[in-house]
Amino acid sequence: MKPKNFHLMYFSPTHTTRRILEEIAKGIGQETTTIIDITKSETRDRKPPVFGNDLVIMGAPVYSGRLPKHAAQYFAGLKAEGALAVPVVVYGNRAYDDALLELKDLAGKSGFIALAAGAFIGEHSFCSNEFGIAENRPDKEDLDKAFAFGRKIARILDGIGSLKDIKPLTVPGHFPYKEIVPRGPMDFIEVTDDCDGCGVCVAACPENAIDETKKYATLTERCIYCCACIKACPPGARIMKEGPLKGVAKTLSENCSARKEPETFMAGH
Ligand SMILES: Cc1cc2nc3c(=O)[nH]c(=O)nc-3n(C[C@H](O)[C@H](O)[C@H](O)COP(=O)(O)O)c2cc1C
Ligand code: SF4
Ligand code: SF4
Repeated sequence: MKPKNFHLMYFSPTHTTRRILEEIAKGIGQETTTIIDITKSETRDRKPPVFGNDLVIMGAPVYSGRLPKHAAQYFAGLKAEGALAVPVVVYGNRAYDDALLELKDLAGKSGFIALAAGAFIGEHSFCSNEFGIAENRPDKEDLDKAFAFGRKIARILDGIGSLKDIKPLTVPGHFPYKEIVPRGPMDFIEVTDDCDGCGVCVAACPENAIDETKKYATLTERCIYCCACIKACPPGARIMKEGPLKGVAKTLSENCSARKEPETFMAGH
C-alpha cells in the first residue's frame, strides 16, 4: 500500500517533537509533501485539508501527562477519509501517562486509521544549566531509533494491500484520561539586565505572550509555560524566577534522572 501524500503535523515550541518527526519521516524514506506546523496560533487558525489517501505523522509534547490544550483542540478538528496516522508524543523523561492514548483516540475520532505510534524523549522544557532534565535529548541514539521506527513503518506499508488489513492499534494509557488541573496565570520568567532587546524571544513565543514595549515582560494570562523563549534567548537573559515552576524543575531533576528509552507500537496486519 502506498499513500499518495505524506504529511508531518506537529506542535513543538522547543523543537524536540519536530526533530523526532523529521527523523521518522527520513526513515520512511518518502518525500514529505506538507509540513503542518501548528505551534503558533496563526497556523492553527487555518483550516486543515481533508486527508484522503495520505499518511500523517502527527506529534505533540506531553504536558502534565496529556496533550497541550491547543494541540488537542486542533487534532480534534481534523477530518480524514481513509487516511493513515502515526501518532507520536515526546516527553521530558518523567512519563507520558495518557497523552499517547489521547492522541491516538483523537486521530481515530477524526477518521484516521492508526498504523503505528511512538513515545520518544526530548529535553524537558524546564531543563536549565541549574537543573538538568533529559538534557540534549533527543540524542543520536534517540534519533537512530526514530529513523528505525520510520523504516519499520515503510516495511509495513509495503506488506499491506489495503486499509482493511490493518488491525486496531493498542497503546499505553487510561481512559478517563489524567485530569487536567487548571493552573492560574503564573509569573515565572525574569528578564535580567543582560537583555539586549534582540527580540528573539518574541519570535520564538508561540502564544504572542511577550510584550516588547514592556521590557519583554511575559503576558502571564497567555503563557503556556513552554519555555521556548527561555531556550531561544541568545544572552540567556530570560530565566526562571524562584517560585513553584522552578521548584518543579528541581524536583524533576532529582527524581527523573534515570534515562528512559523510546517506545514504539505497531498495528497488527
Ligand atoms: C507545561 C508543561 C508540562 C509538561 N509535562 C510533562 C509531563 O507530564 N511529563 C514529561 O515527561 N514531560 C513533560 N513536559 C516536558 C515536555 O514534554 C518535553 O520537554 C518535550 O520534549 C517538549 O516538546 P517540544 O520540544 O516539542 O516543545 C512538560 C512541559 C511543559 C512545558
Ligand atoms: S512567554 Fe510563555 S508561551 Fe511564550 S515562549 Fe515564553 S514560556 Fe512559552
Ligand atoms: S531574547 Fe533575551 S535578550 Fe533578546 S529581547 Fe528577549 S529577553 Fe531580551
